[in-house]
Amino acid sequence: MKFKTLGQFIIEKQAEFPFAKGELSRLLRDIGIAAKVVNREVNKAGLAEILGPLGQINVQGEEQQKLDVLADEEFISALKRGGECCYVASEEHDEGIDLCADDTLCPGKYIVCIDPLDGSSNIDVNISIGTIFSIYRRISPSGKVQKEDVLQKGLYQVAAGYVLYGSSTMLVYTTGHGVNGFTLDPSIGEFCLSHPMMRIPENGKTYSINQGNFVHFPEPIKQFVKYCQDEDPESDKPFSLRYIGSLVADLHRTMLKGGIFMYPESLRHPDGKLRLMYECNPMAFILEQAGGAASTGKQRILDIIPEKLHQRTPLVIGSERMVQQVQQLYALEK
Ligand code: AHG
Ligand code: MN
Ligand code: MN
Ligand code: MN
Repeated sequence: MKFKTLGQFIIEKQAEFPFAKGELSRLLRDIGIAAKVVNREVNKAGLAEILGPLGQINVQGEEQQKLDVLADEEFISALKRGGECCYVASEEHDEGIDLCADDTLCPGKYIVCIDPLDGSSNIDVNISIGTIFSIYRRISPSGKVQKEDVLQKGLYQVAAGYVLYGSSTMLVYTTGHGVNGFTLDPSIGEFCLSHPMMRIPENGKTYSINQGNFVHFPEPIKQFVKYCQDEDPESDKPFSLRYIGSLVADLHRTMLKGGIFMYPESLRHPDGKLRLMYECNPMAFILEQAGGAASTGKQRILDIIPEKLHQRTPLVIGSERMVQQVQQLYALEK
């Protein structure tokens, strides 16, 4: 076979770390298995009575979609079966789930924060959606998982990744040694290495933001959006606006083509809309590993000290040069 499978890649990479016992490798394998099951459901959503809302409101105050819950259940059961994860924090649950609560001998050393289905508003209109995951090693040695095990700075992630259910299905992840992308080959049911060592262009000509909120944007963001729209043939401006409304899809495009994605604080979302633990931290780890940058506009995302599981943060992420331009505008605002 021409391409290396995810499993072969993980084992090969593990061999480079003599002290690795294979736990993280097995955890990534478990996530890959759940991704294939969710992909199967996503691909036949219109035929499988899993479109539309479930009639429940989640802790975010959002109307849960059937696929939100299906994906959530699939990833949690795969993590529980795999035995490497001791605790899951999911967008779809108020509290985290202690997978070791009734098993004091639970071997799981890893905490997983997950957005099981990202871009829910796009499910019913057949636009790309995703899954985002962030992995930490627990700090307390064993027993009941503590708050400090879960609310760790993004800097301490041991791995992060996303699944993109798009025109093809991809799994992209990092363990801190670069970013690698795998495309699902449905004919053999395997993720195969298609995008080795992904790097984001240092600069870009695309900006991605929900322009509809312009009136509520903070001044530095308004200035940067106007800068992107100004005519300047020298720097290929005006830039193109691309906005899909699924974070995974917008950031996958940004990583491949360069550019910047912004979801700033606003009157409606004083702390921004996107969640730190299972959207912004994992995507910041991945983009930084690909040579990009991720900030609130004022602070590096990975340096934020989390206080609450579902806390939100403004996000400015993408090509380093463009993120720096936005940070300079915030710095001038002081
Ligand atoms: P989720 O579907 O997991 O709740 O996330 C939706 C998020 C993110 O995917 C996207 O970037 C953002 O919501 C879009 O928000 P707007 O519709 O307000 O632009
Ligand atoms: Mn949601
Ligand atoms: Mn999301
Ligand atoms: Mn979600």
